[in-house]
Amino acid sequence: MLGATATAAAAVTGCSRVAARAGDIQLAAKAGRARLLSDSTVSTAVFGYGGQVPGRELRLRQGDRLRVSVKNELQEETTVHWHGIRLPNAMDGVPHLTQKPIKPGETFLYDFVAPDAGTYWYHPHHNSSQQVGRGLYGPLIVEEAEPIKVDRDITWLLGDWRLLEDGQISDDFGNMHDSMHAGRVGNTITINGRAPQPLAVRTGERVRLRLINAANARIFGLKFAGHSPKIVALDGQPVTPHEPSGSVLVGPAMRVDLIIDMVGDPSLKFAVEDTFYKGLEYTLTTLEYGPNPLRQALLTTPIALPPNRIAEPHLRAATRHEITFSGGMGGGMGMMGGGMMGGGMGMMGGMSWAINGVSATSHTHEPMLTFARGKTVVLNLNNDTAWWHPIHLHGHSFRVISRNGKPTAHREWQDTVLMPPRETAEIAFVADNPGDWMFHCHVLEHQAAGMMANLRVA
Ligand code: C2O
Ligand code: CU
Repeated sequence: MLGATATAAAAVTGCSRVAARAGDIQLAAKAGRARLLSDSTVSTAVFGYGGQVPGRELRLRQGDRLRVSVKNELQEETTVHWHGIRLPNAMDGVPHLTQKPIKPGETFLYDFVAPDAGTYWYHPHHNSSQQVGRGLYGPLIVEEAEPIKVDRDITWLLGDWRLLEDGQISDDFGNMHDSMHAGRVGNTITINGRAPQPLAVRTGERVRLRLINAANARIFGLKFAGHSPKIVALDGQPVTPHEPSGSVLVGPAMRVDLIIDMVGDPSLKFAVEDTFYKGLEYTLTTLEYGPNPLRQALLTTPIALPPNRIAEPHLRAATRHEITFSGGMGGGMGMMGGGMMGGGMGMMGGMSWAINGVSATSHTHEPMLTFARGKTVVLNLNNDTAWWHPIHLHGHSFRVISRNGKPTAHREWQDTVLMPPRETAEIAFVADNPGDWMFHCHVLEHQAAGMMANLRVA
């Protein structure tokens, strides 16, 4: 593993972790087997980068150049999207929009500089519901030039699988029920591709925990019993350190960086619970304290991360657009909400969601909106549906400036804003990255059913 080797090297030499430069990284998208269940006699047929789940952690320094040669060893086309990275359009991995799909047997070279430090991930952007749902994804960590001081930097890539009794992946991808409702919420949760194991910690330890939600549709709301994690970054971008109000919400595709001071006494155990779905709360894992404290007094060094250099939106000079999401069961898409069944439903089922009334396909190239390069854009997002939607914009990070008309406390930078049913949010950004950028719901079944658009910066 790149990350592990590099960490060991860093410990010895005390210098930069990775030389991820020079085109040395090869990634093959291919079938493999993974042990997702605690019953280790069962292995599951998956898709994975390098045949493993998750794909290797790519770890580099801010400003480093990443060159990854992706070979498609699947029986179907694919691409790789570097979620959250503000990269040149041609490297964005959107089939039919920024590149041709990578055909079976073909190779595509992704080559870009990572401008922002933070926690990111990579995944296909072709037939995503199925390819991601079968395990094609991996973490991408961009380290700060001067990281904050922590004892351990841990990545938890959260996966959610729909497995059958025999431990194999249910192949009911793209079914009508998932499309019309909350998407493909699974029945088996993994951390880094394995059944969650207790996390061994020590009294006094400070951990940076990078949460990445790679699930197709599941939303996590994590509570750390007995601890007060501070959120220090959202979607890779630093935010004023603060405690979450309630649980730590991680919608599909979102990342949350936490600083957790291990305040428990030696030999105690604390539950980490997921309380997002009411009535379906469960214990994800536990923090298990070893017998020996690491230190007596907690660290008091600062935990605020250095900001990335992102152009500040000029709200007064902004161009404003209304964006309305509609569709789904009980949603605002007229005939769909009317519960049209049978033939009509089957016909419409592929297209049950819309943005400003338009259901797009992966062959829709006409931009819904075109922004002048360098201009501040404010999008007023209206979720006119009965469902949650993590709304993702490619190529840019945006500030979430208000929710339901109320200014946000932290004006957080995000690339994916999780919108509760019937709520609104205003996002603002400088359209400074030229090209055609996807704007879509990251519930992958909603995206496949039309909840996407192309926004052009020209
Ligand atoms: Cu993570 Cu358009 O995707
Ligand atoms: Cu959605």
